[in-house]
Amino acid sequence: MSTDTVLAALRAALGDAGVLTDPERTGAYLVDMRKYLTGKSPAILRPTSTEEVVKAVEIVGAAGLGLVPQGGNTSYCGGATPDESGRQFVVSLERMAKIRSVDPLGFTLSLDAGVILADAQKAADDAGLTLPMSLGSQGSARIGGLLGTNAGGLSVLRYGMMRDLLLGIEAVLPDGSVLRDMRRLRKNNTGYDVKQCFVGAEGTLGIVTGAVLKLIPQASRRATAWLPLAAAAPLAEMLALMRRETADLISSFEFITTTALGLVAGSDSGLHAGEGGTLLIELSSSSDRIPLDDVLLGAVEQLAERGWIEDGLLASNERQRAEMWRMRETIPEGELKAGGSIKHDISVPISSVDAFLVRGAEIVAAYDATFRLSVYGHVGDGNLHYNVLVPPGEERLAFSKRIETELAPQLYDLAAEMDGAFSAEHGVGRLKRGLLERYGDPVRRQTMRRIKTAFDPGNVMNAGAVVDPLG
Ligand code: MLT
Ligand code: ZN
Repeated sequence: MSTDTVLAALRAALGDAGVLTDPERTGAYLVDMRKYLTGKSPAILRPTSTEEVVKAVEIVGAAGLGLVPQGGNTSYCGGATPDESGRQFVVSLERMAKIRSVDPLGFTLSLDAGVILADAQKAADDAGLTLPMSLGSQGSARIGGLLGTNAGGLSVLRYGMMRDLLLGIEAVLPDGSVLRDMRRLRKNNTGYDVKQCFVGAEGTLGIVTGAVLKLIPQASRRATAWLPLAAAAPLAEMLALMRRETADLISSFEFITTTALGLVAGSDSGLHAGEGGTLLIELSSSSDRIPLDDVLLGAVEQLAERGWIEDGLLASNERQRAEMWRMRETIPEGELKAGGSIKHDISVPISSVDAFLVRGAEIVAAYDATFRLSVYGHVGDGNLHYNVLVPPGEERLAFSKRIETELAPQLYDLAAEMDGAFSAEHGVGRLKRGLLERYGDPVRRQTMRRIKTAFDPGNVMNAGAVVDPLG
């Protein structure tokens, strides 16, 4: 079948607005967010319904071509970018962005996979509930992509990753059949949990078109602390103490090093880091009866008594709280402004975080003592964004290649030695597939290949990402 015939069939099925071929409009879908990869595609498909996704999958599959599902195109690992063969259609879910329903008694939200995270949060909010998932790209990341990468973000410590929020799914499989499992059940022990296969699969097993997510009672109360740290303050011990002393009401436990904070545009609340960096801690609750500020203050005093913090600031109003979060959330933007960074999204068992920080710094200093590290992250989850800033005068892509071959393996080896992972929350995509080959357990890799082949024997879905079925 010629490409023209395939495009004509797709136009008949999706309408002209559903099939973009004009280079002026397709360009943005073909480059990954960090501009590492540029792919080619015969067209960008923009279905408006699950039925249209089915038609697209059938037409493209029958022509022996491939598909790359795409949400907000915010993958850090090139998981939503087609390869250069020109044989993979991008399927953007951007026109499937309906909130299907909110169940206020069951605490669930049913929605299309193309809904932007911020819109999903608002839908929950409008119903007096909260979707406990927030991250820097929430204004553009879409639910399908967040599920595909099993995204984490700022409140994983208390509410988990996307996987933990997922109750039901709708997905179009590579043969065009539709898995319809949009149930709102908390309990359903009826065999394999097939929906979870799509989480973290980055579109390699099918196209997620809908989801049911867990909500929580609206987190109307918050207590937030900015805690400059003494040198070598023991983060894991501090976390354990804080969890205990706050009855586990902590929703965020974020660590920011002095260098990372220095990249952020100045604060008007005088927020600064201590010798050991800074912690940004937040407690949240839906009940006015819990004196959150007192609970937080009592716990912080214990940190002070042990000499682990230099001083501390509790947000006394929403403006101050927002400023604390702005400082944290604009670090990636600050890195970009400083010339960019090479990102290592590392996780280790929480008890190893402190050791990783010490040994990681030694590794980097031994490689090149002039390198500047921008380290920050969700320490409450054992997740460090261990980023190397591109030195002035270095070309980003060339520098990235050098780091990838010479320095990153040493950091990943260290994480592996500590039973950690080379991707905590950013996925594998195309860019980290080699790392999965290197660090993945062989039996796990083989099982992944078998799962891929069982779902997608023709390797139609996002071929080249995450797992090579023949590898
Ligand atoms: C974050 O936590 O800010 C992101 O996961 C890291 C990033 O955007 O580089
Ligand atoms: Zn993060």
